[in-house]
Amino acid sequence: MTIPQPAIRRAGPADAEALARIGRETFTETFGHMYPPADLAAFLAEHHSRERAATDLAHPKKAAWIAERDGEVVGYAAVGPSDLPHAEVGPGSGELKRLYVDAGQQGLGTGRRLLETALAWLESAGLGDIWLSVWSENYGAQRLYQRYGFECVDTYLFQVGSVYDKEFMFRRRKVPV
Ligand SMILES: CC(C)(COP(=O)(O)OP(=O)(O)OC[C@H]1O[C@@H](n2cnc3c(N)ncnc32)[C@H](O)[C@@H]1OP(=O)(O)O)[C@@H](O)C(=O)NCCC(=O)NCCS
Repeated sequence: MTIPQPAIRRAGPADAEALARIGRETFTETFGHMYPPADLAAFLAEHHSRERAATDLAHPKKAAWIAERDGEVVGYAAVGPSDLPHAEVGPGSGELKRLYVDAGQQGLGTGRRLLETALAWLESAGLGDIWLSVWSENYGAQRLYQRYGFECVDTYLFQVGSVYDKEFMFRRRKVPV
């Protein structure tokens, strides 16, 4: 028996709370063990609050999608202008800022579908190269991105409180028309 796929839809202003919640849950279940609890709590409060999600959802150059199964949000993707610390990132650079699927729902093709939706939006927005940042030891996600034409360009340190993680900056070059 095949399991029905979660539905994917663009997130709107009414989804701010749900987006913030799935952001907190999936970051914590994936990376939470790497940080002291106080550092994790401060990071989540700053980057995954309802207010932050609402601001991002109202931004004309940002977009997010949620994957829903039986009314429950099980994954999301978020994109926008890139602010990664690399000399070749400029005003026209796009970025896949987040791609997360609930741990119990992974491996079913939802991440791939969210990624394709996000990349199609970035391409149609007329942006240049597409960038993303991925933890240097997140081999599964790196495999997924490489399959979609991303290549590692450089590294930087990503700070969560007192902890600095080595991150890879991946880029997918814009296809000349
Ligand atoms: C990366 C992620 C979004 C992929 O979503 P998914 O629904 O599991 O992916 P799909 O079923 O569409 O595709 C499977 C591919 O995802 C990757 N993947 C699978 N499980 C993964 C995991 N636990 N962590 C990271 N990547 C994983 C692999 O490339 C896999 O393909 P492979 O097994 O043939 O190598 C999802 O696994 C996830 O949320 N992981 C934890 C959070 C994360 O690492 N996000 C990326 C931050 S840059």
